[in-house]
Amino acid sequence: MTLRSSRTDINIRPYRELHTDIKGEAIFPRTIPPIHHKIAKLNLQVTDLAPKKRILTGDRPTGPLHLGHYVGSVANRVRLQHEYDTFIIIADVQALTTNFDRPERLAEDVRNVALDNLAAGLDPNLVTIFIQSYIPEIAELTIYFSMFVSVNALRHNPTIKTEAKAYGYSDLTYGFLGYPVSQAADITFCRAHLVPVGADQVPHVEQTRKIVRRFNELYGEVFPEPEALVSPVGRLVGLDGDAKMSKSLGNCIYLAEPPESVAQKVRVAVTDPARIRRYDLGHPEVCIIHDYQKAFNPGFVEELEPACRSAEIGCVDCKKRLIAALEELLAPMRERRAQYEKPGVLDEILRDGTARAKREAEATLALVRQAMKIDYWERWG
Ligand code: TRP
Ligand code: SF4
Repeated sequence: MTLRSSRTDINIRPYRELHTDIKGEAIFPRTIPPIHHKIAKLNLQVTDLAPKKRILTGDRPTGPLHLGHYVGSVANRVRLQHEYDTFIIIADVQALTTNFDRPERLAEDVRNVALDNLAAGLDPNLVTIFIQSYIPEIAELTIYFSMFVSVNALRHNPTIKTEAKAYGYSDLTYGFLGYPVSQAADITFCRAHLVPVGADQVPHVEQTRKIVRRFNELYGEVFPEPEALVSPVGRLVGLDGDAKMSKSLGNCIYLAEPPESVAQKVRVAVTDPARIRRYDLGHPEVCIIHDYQKAFNPGFVEELEPACRSAEIGCVDCKKRLIAALEELLAPMRERRAQYEKPGVLDEILRDGTARAKREAEATLALVRQAMKIDYWERWG
């Protein structure tokens, strides 16, 4: 298959240095980003500015994204997209580690996860959204890394252990046990500096850092050592009080959830079990709704805490306030989603993003082959 970049008709010269890949090819031929005007006003040479640092993060397309994904990683992506050259991976190969026996769901899930990211506010003119399986260099890099990653280190990875238990795996497949190596390749193929993730992903970023250090030590400096960026809002638990949010439990709110269903899920959510009647005193620290207020309605928390303890506010009203705050977040997402769902729009964004990621990957792999001294044509020529 060929990947096409569909628009090349815009003059990209003014921001060429800032927005080119390492081969010097323009990366965003669609629009001129606002940074251009800033530079003109400050009268700086474009080359005086350091190129932007890079973010790589993303999701396994195993179902729609929910509020847990939003607070864990997606909000940080949206917040940092102007500061960092941002790559968003739709990790379909990683999804196959657990879904290899039902690949037919992937086409739909890849689409939905891309739409979720765009609906959440990622601007396709700024960020590169791409599909992992179309970048064979990631698989290639995974193989090179796998030569020096020990099986024991993977076996002791806490996230691998938790997930293996959750899925009931006793005998792990090679692909599942090794997915942290593949994730290291996801992060390094574009030589990323920062990885916004939920807390469960920190062991994988740690593993990536170890791989980077070892690679650079063995073959020479090719990769920056990436850092994890974890959201200050802790992990959100499901609305039923279950630590794990899951589709089958129906205990999470999706970014694409319709308003009535958001309200219904909040209305039936468990609260402080000691508040059976309206005048029972509350204990916000044990209440999930309080956690959600902290995450999505932080301006209300200071007022809520004493009001809950003194039973001045009832759970019904508290939940109404949360529903309103969630609507403020989710309503614009529904609007944006509708724009990106128009025929052809998402396809173009993913094709352009994947084409750019592919160029980055080729450039990085050229550096890797050179560092590893397996760039035979260059050596012999
Ligand atoms: N493992 C991540 C998750 O389950 C998805 C992912 C794949 C990822 N590759 C990545 C996250 C690289 C950050 C960086 O959500
Ligand atoms: Fe929870 Fe709010 Fe009820 Fe307090 S008032 S127990 S914080 S739902």
